[in-house]
Amino acid sequence: MQQNPALLDTTHEATCLTNCSACHAADLSGAMIVGANKIPLPGLPLNDKQWKFGGKPMEIFKLINEGSPPESTGHNGAKMQAWGQTLNPKQIAEVTAYLIAKLPEDVKYIPAN
Ligand code: HEC
Repeated sequence: MQQNPALLDTTHEATCLTNCSACHAADLSGAMIVGANKIPLPGLPLNDKQWKFGGKPMEIFKLINEGSPPESTGHNGAKMQAWGQTLNPKQIAEVTAYLIAKLPEDVKYIPAN
């Protein structure tokens, strides 16, 4: 897939770093390295190609916009809030695109169906 440089615009990165890195880490790994220890953060890794709630762009968008679905039991009991109250739809679309653009090359392809 061609990489659109606009998807890696630094403002999208900033939106993600400001709002998401506390739980998902700046490198999106969901963990923080402290000395020799890898400490898991509350959120799931976002760079592992595992999408608990679906990996299609609209599914990722919906999860960010609406938060964990009611049927989710959470990740170690932690659920994600609905970001639709904090971020506007354009920002959520940009963050979604940013997450997809940050996936390792070999996992970036997402079927369109
Ligand atoms: C307070 C902690 C916290 C913050 C801040 C947070 N998340 Fe989450 N996120 C979580 C948790 C916990 C889950 C797992 C939810 C579940 O299992 O129900 C999650 C899940 C996700 C998932 C699904 C991951 C997967 O593997 O399926 C995405 C995508 C996501 N978050 C994106 C974001 C984005 C984008 C932001 C910033 C706008 C953000 N998160 C901020 C805690 C957080």
